[in-house]
Amino acid sequence: MGETTVTSVNEHGHLSIGGADTVALAAKYGTPLYVMDEDAIRTNCRALKNSLDRHYAQHGLVLYASKAFCCKRMYRIIEEEGLGADVVSGGELYTALEAGFPAQKIYFHGNNKTADELSMALEAGVGRIVVDNIAELELLSALAVAAGKTADILFRIKPGIDAHTHNFVRTGQIDSKFGFALETGEALEAVQKALTMQGIRFAGVHCHIGSQIFEIDPFVHAAEVMLGFIQKVRETCGYTIGELNLGGGFGIRYVQEDDPKALESYMEAVSKTVLDFCREKELPVPFICIEPGRSIVGDTGVTLYTVGGVKTIPGCRTYVSIDGGMTDNPRYALYQSSYEAIIANKAAQQKDFTATIAGRCCESGDLIQEHTQIQTPAVGDILAVLSTGAYNYSMASNYNRVPRPPVVMVRGGTDSLAVRRETYADLVRNDV
Ligand code: LLP
Repeated sequence: MGETTVTSVNEHGHLSIGGADTVALAAKYGTPLYVMDEDAIRTNCRALKNSLDRHYAQHGLVLYASKAFCCKRMYRIIEEEGLGADVVSGGELYTALEAGFPAQKIYFHGNNKTADELSMALEAGVGRIVVDNIAELELLSALAVAAGKTADILFRIKPGIDAHTHNFVRTGQIDSKFGFALETGEALEAVQKALTMQGIRFAGVHCHIGSQIFEIDPFVHAAEVMLGFIQKVRETCGYTIGELNLGGGFGIRYVQEDDPKALESYMEAVSKTVLDFCREKELPVPFICIEPGRSIVGDTGVTLYTVGGVKTIPGCRTYVSIDGGMTDNPRYALYQSSYEAIIANKAAQQKDFTATIAGRCCESGDLIQEHTQIQTPAVGDILAVLSTGAYNYSMASNYNRVPRPPVVMVRGGTDSLAVRRETYADLVRNDV
């Protein structure tokens, strides 16, 4: 992905996003502030949808993995763009329903859904529940029977592919908390069982091999493994699986060195595998779902901060302290993720300064980036961190009782609030 241009430098030498001046946005809404380019989100949605439609003759659905960034506005956007939604908790499901998102286009994931969550999903009439294990299958069947409903389910399968090694391996992932294993026969047994169970309609299979993956081969091999399983179920059970959900995980560019493949190359390679396999084995082509999260929102957001201090430790490094940090972006602390930072009010100037960007929590590890190049910083500057649209707001916390920043969306150059800034009153709301 990353095929959209989200940020640029405007005539004032300021960083702009979606045509809006980030320095002006920081002044209007305060910092820290998440800003997202809504036009770019829609462009990414359309690119994915058009590509899927083209490759599978419109016999498929793009599901937005809403864990990447979840709020009511986002569900409205994806509904307008014709996408479905992947939710992984009662909270995400609730948000989608509150936004008026059509339940039929919701796929409910998770490796340990509670009885309450499953009942909520049945009650709402979600499109598919992606069942992770036998205990959940049994629980869901009992709940569905009691409620007089039928649950349309997919099984989450571990295709046995570890895409997070330099050269991916095909056997590494049996040790995963997610889904049914193929190697042990567990997945086949589960299908046999589901086909006889009350309250259950077994519709298909799902896999997801990881996130921020740049290579195409792991996706192709996952599709091959899943098709092999579909074929095996047909031979063994005489049942033809009609739906194949291939998950998400397409990588995006965070920094210059990142080299994500164009969306088309993923889609082309995988669809060729699917279509060729089905032709050879005389299988009907299944209804195909993909579940991207990061590649829809990741490159469409920036976070704006105010620089509060510049502390140079001679012979060591310079810390640039910002008014946010791991509470709004825990990804460096958690995964040492790379980000590009820019001083928004000096965006036209050279990056001539090496800085460690430090958050405000009482934690030495509260850093956004170490030894990164920015323009020469001064107290009061607006520092922008790029490509923070995915897994930032959704992973934010109130550690140190820091309120979460608001989310502003820019559409056609016009900004509007999608999520309000948390207040101190919000922080004590549940305290008894
Ligand atoms: N489908 C399933 C079942 C998933 O578990 C995930 C992500 C996705 C789809 C979407 O994957 P994406 O297209 O966004 O890569 N917090 C981590 C990412 C965790 C991803 C978990 N599952 C991060 O900040 O990098």
